[in-house]
Amino acid sequence: MLKRKKYAVITGASAGIGMEFAKRLSKRGYPLVLIARREDRLIKLSKELKTKCEIITADLSREEECYRVFYQLQDKEIGVFINNAGFGDCGKFIETDLQKEMNMVQVNVKAVHVLMKLMLKKMQKAGWGYILNVASSAGLIPAGPYMATYYATKAYVTSLTQAVAEELRESGSRVYVGCLCPGPVDTEFNSVANVEFALKGISARDCVDYALKQMGKREVVIIPTKTMQLAMTFGRFLPRPVYVKIAAHQQKKKFKEG
Ligand SMILES: NC(=O)c1ccc[n+]([C@@H]2O[C@H](COP(=O)([O-])OP(=O)(O)OC[C@H]3O[C@@H](n4cnc5c(N)ncnc54)[C@H](OP(=O)(O)O)[C@@H]3O)[C@@H](O)[C@H]2O)c1
Repeated sequence: MLKRKKYAVITGASAGIGMEFAKRLSKRGYPLVLIARREDRLIKLSKELKTKCEIITADLSREEECYRVFYQLQDKEIGVFINNAGFGDCGKFIETDLQKEMNMVQVNVKAVHVLMKLMLKKMQKAGWGYILNVASSAGLIPAGPYMATYYATKAYVTSLTQAVAEELRESGSRVYVGCLCPGPVDTEFNSVANVEFALKGISARDCVDYALKQMGKREVVIIPTKTMQLAMTFGRFLPRPVYVKIAAHQQKKKFKEG
């Protein structure tokens, strides 16, 4: 079971999965710190929630903002950290926008890395805590043509998380680190990434409820829904080039080629 009273901190809390984590963790009695760029959304959400909510407006595509965020959290006791902010983009790699991709690498990889490490050190000192990196099932697939950068960023997160979780297990740490690897979830992700899911998405609420349940069981790689779990298991037996071809086929269904 997740412990109470210490803060739960959520990046990307202004929409989708992050917003749902805020609602569910508030229901469990956690005081919250909500982080994202859109302050108006965070204020609105904080007014709807029953527990104490603090807001940090930050653009995590700027590295110095990640350090500022952590600095602002320094004096707080933190029990749960949901490292969630992220976004995707879609298209042929040769045509996609380089600046958008560099921002994606900063938010999906560098911000996740920096905040995870700083938070881990803080929790290790405190003796326990829960860190959940929101990756994606994309991070468990060898490569994702037509969403190449997004898949690569999420592969980084799943790899890093599993490695760190093993180090913590071997050292007998009471800090939990895991990654959430959902398939499609109905959020604002699609409109930001310019895609239409090829598969039907699950609700953010179902995704978050499942994630919290599995965090309580200290599962390292959390894949909501049986279908996705089966697909990921099946994928392990495919030769990598075949898997990449299937991923390309699925991705092409999501966007109109120019
Ligand atoms: N939806 C899916 O199908 C799906 C599947 C697997 C994994 N995921 C992952 O789940 C996470 C949440 O995505 P979502 O589906 O909930 O999408 P969403 O509804 O678009 O929410 C994304 C959140 O990330 C925040 N964010 C984006 N760029 C940011 C930046 N530069 N600085 C600070 N915050 C930033 C956004 O806040 P502001 O815009 O207010 O800054 C927003 O709160 C992402 O890491 C995504 O890759 C999503």
